[in-house]
Formats: sequence, C-alpha cells, structure tokens
Amino acid sequence: MSNKHAIIEKNIGLMIVLIIVAISFGGLAQIVPLFFSEETTEPIDGLMPLPALALEGRDIYIREGCHVCHTQMIRPFRSETERYGHYSVAGEHVYEHPFLWGSKRTGPDLARVGQRYSDGWHRVHLNNPRDVVPESNMPAFPWLFENTLDGAETGKKMRALRAVGVPYTDIDIEGAKAAVQGSTEMDALVIYLQQLGTLIQQKR
Ligand code: HEC
Repeated sequence: MSNKHAIIEKNIGLMIVLIIVAISFGGLAQIVPLFFSEETTEPIDGLMPLPALALEGRDIYIREGCHVCHTQMIRPFRSETERYGHYSVAGEHVYEHPFLWGSKRTGPDLARVGQRYSDGWHRVHLNNPRDVVPESNMPAFPWLFENTLDGAETGKKMRALRAVGVPYTDIDIEGAKAAVQGSTEMDALVIYLQQLGTLIQQKR
C-alpha cells in the first residue's frame, strides 16, 4: 500500500492528473445538480418571454454595449440589496439568451431599474446623460431617436429563441413585425429597460 502511494508522490505528472480528476468530481458534484434543480431551471411565477418590441430593445442594448458598463445581477449582499433591491434569482433569467449578468460595473446595476424612472427620464438620459446627471460619464446615444425599426427579423429571432425553449406562441411570432414596425430604437430600448426586474418587488 505505502509503496503505491510513493509512486504518486514521486511522479509529479501522475499527481497532477490525479488531482485534476479529484477536483473534477468535486466540481461535478456541485454543478450537475443545478441543471436539475427547479430553483435554477424553472421560471419564477408570472415570467413571460419579452414582447416583440422589448426583444428588439434588448438587442439594441447589446449592440450599443450597455452591458459593458452595466451588470444585471444583484448579489445577495446588504450593500447591494439596499441600493438596488431584491437580489437576482436564477428563475428570472431562464428565457434569456445570452444572459447579460456581466461582472464589470462602470455604471450602476440595472437588474431592477424597471419603473424606477419615467419613460421621459430615460429618453432625456439616453439622449445626453449630463442633462439629468451632471457628473455622469455615460456616453450619449442620440441616434436611437432617428433609427426606425422595420421588424423584418423580429419573428425570426423569436423562432430561434423558441428553438432553445422560450415559449413564444405562433400568434406572438405572426404579430411581431406589426408590433415593432415604425417604432424608433429609443422606444424599443425604453420598453426593454422599463420591464427589467419588475416581477420581484423592489425595495427602495
Ligand atoms: C461607458 C460606460 C457606460 C455605457 C456604455 C452605458 N452606461 Fe449607462 N451609466 C453609466 C454611468 C457611469 C451611470 C451613472 C451616471 C448616470 O446616471 O448617468 C449610468 C447610468 C445609467 C442608468 C441609470 C441607472 C440608475 O439606477 O440610476 C441607466 C438606466 C443606464 N445607464 C442605461 C444605459 C443604457 C441603456 C446604455 C446603452 C445604450 C448605457 N447605459 C450605456 C455608464 C455607462
């Protein structure tokens, strides 16, 4: 017995391989159950897929790189919940592809920013953040008022999301173009922002 152990102790390559095997089992024991636990895979009560215009707003959010400065993930620490509201739970995010949790905050977390400000505030802020927050270093996005959406791809995006489990109905997909056509990118982005995190009660 003791000789066999000596073989491992004297052979660093073998030891590294065995350490990796041992750690992988530890990792698997923690990670695999999460794929089957309801808490992480089931949507929270009332969760709906994003309506067509909000879905386009989310794509504009990604295109403009909002997620590079803003997280959408409130951690369960008092310093975060006092400022942003209830911590994020996995069931809020099950219809999101890709997730926009992020890890770098130049600006504040936006996971529960929905309904915190009026639509008008968002429009003024996105047009030029300094008009409402003089010390802000967030960039301005004035072109969002000028660009109009035609909705040509919205139905296809919904169909793709449905293929990975987002429960869009045929009626949602058929109506997507009409719901989006003619709106500005600003309309879409504000609609998207205003629903963020609203299913779980905000703490002010
Ligand atoms: C370069 C980093 C940066 C980028 C990119 C950026 N922001 Fe910001 N954002 C900030 C900073 C800093 C603040 C805090 C100052 C302020 O309110 O303007 C902020 C604040 C905000 C707020 C107010 C949050 C609150 O709780 O008061 C919203 C909403 C917001 N940003 C949305 C957006 C959206 C939507 C985009 C993309 C179109 C975006 N931001 C892009 C840095 C950024």
